Amino acid sequence: MAKNAKPGVDWLLLEARRASWWRALFPSRALAGLRQLIAHAVKLYAGLAPASQAGVLLGILSFTGMGLVGLTHWLTASIIAEQERSALLQSLHALVPATQHDNDMLADTLELAGPGAAAAAGPITVYRARKDGRPVAAVLTAAAPDGYNGTIRLLVAVRQDGTLAGARVVAHKETPGLGDLIEEAKSDWICVFSGRSLTDPDEKRWAVKRDGGAFDQFTGATITPRAVVRAVYRSLVYFRDHQDELLAAGADPRASGGTTHD
Ligand SMILES: Cc1cc2nc3c(=O)[nH]c(=O)nc-3n(C[C@H](O)[C@H](O)[C@H](O)COP(=O)(O)O)c2cc1C
Repeated sequence: MAKNAKPGVDWLLLEARRASWWRALFPSRALAGLRQLIAHAVKLYAGLAPASQAGVLLGILSFTGMGLVGLTHWLTASIIAEQERSALLQSLHALVPATQHDNDMLADTLELAGPGAAAAAGPITVYRARKDGRPVAAVLTAAAPDGYNGTIRLLVAVRQDGTLAGARVVAHKETPGLGDLIEEAKSDWICVFSGRSLTDPDEKRWAVKRDGGAFDQFTGATITPRAVVRAVYRSLVYFRDHQDELLAAGADPRASGGTTHD
């Protein structure tokens, strides 16, 4: 330690001014102002009472912590968004294979008020599949608000001719081992909708077998499949009633990223 220098901040300041690493840290003239500012701040800090110094130190540490959290969030947000985008694309392609369309389904979208009871669950997004500019299918983000444990979110893909390309559950809170059999990973029940339409089965049979319909329920769990069957049926009705709007090409679907309708 230098002679006459007090230990602590004074000493640090003195050493910093002398040390070559200090100059190495602020080599250019442009940074001379910053160097002076820091030196001034350290001097001010040195003049504070110990209690205030502790407070300032705590403040600096908190700000640094918050800064690091913010930086981490900023760095990971785009990675998470990209992962979500690729998971969604994978789900869309499970219903409408990439070989069946040549447009960017994630960019060719519509935002619409939801059909029937699902309207309460918020607007739906519709992803459109086209080949050579001609409509192939529309994938609706349907919601079944009457699941056992709340809203079940689905993707329902309807081909241009009104038949179902399929349905998949994307989010739910149903009971593991009971209601969660609606997940493709847990059972093939959800695959039963492929190829069906509003006329196959007819309206009365668009229900679970317990209600006189054509679709299986699960043992000891009727509420969940009933909700899904209703949501898929509502999606088909919605498609029939809004087909032109759902399949119409946007001005430039690849570039626009979607249009909003009431
Ligand atoms: C703890 C618990 C969790 C349940 N979870 C579900 C569920 O996720 N989905 C469902 O349809 N029924 C679930 N049920 C059963 C329903 O309460 C209801 O009895 C059933 O759906 C009606 O079908 P059933 O007529 O075939 O019995 C659950 C029951 C209990 C006690």
